[in-house]
Amino acid sequence: MILPIYTYGQPVLRKVAQDITPDYPELPKLIEDMFETMYRSEGVGLAAPQIGKDIRVIVVTLDVLKDEYPEYADFNHAYINPHILEYDDSEMQTMDEGCLSLPGIHEPVKRPTRILVRWMEPDFTEREEWVEGYLARVLQHEIDHLEGKVFTDRITPLRKQMIRSKMNALVKGKFRCGYKTK
Ligand code: NI
Repeated sequence: MILPIYTYGQPVLRKVAQDITPDYPELPKLIEDMFETMYRSEGVGLAAPQIGKDIRVIVVTLDVLKDEYPEYADFNHAYINPHILEYDDSEMQTMDEGCLSLPGIHEPVKRPTRILVRWMEPDFTEREEWVEGYLARVLQHEIDHLEGKVFTDRITPLRKQMIRSKMNALVKGKFRCGYKTK
């Protein structure tokens, strides 16, 4: 089932999301719906707050990048209760980011290229791994959503000022995009 995507201005995007337990109702269905919603809106990542739920669940698909990064072929992964334990800030990279919750906005964001992440698989097996490259970028963006942050919080004050009217238009619902929003 395709779910509407909550856009900038919705209070749920500013909440700190909570860990879930194995008895969380209908988790497999929620994960399936999140994947379907992400594929339909052509995103590479989606966090539960973006579909209105303040819980720590994210989905990531990197298969679309396989021409440039063959290691990401068929990469479709759900992360339960993800947390970033460490940022390796010895190497930073600036890349353009966009977000399904901020349609029409793309801005350069500087982030570490390598992070230590702890999460659970959908069967609640615990994992801990150093992640780097494009996946590290996407996970930082998505885990930010779980901390109540959006990527425009991390751009320079000058860029913030330059997109202020666009951000205000988003809050007022004055935007167009090709997927269902709320
Ligand atoms: Ni986003």
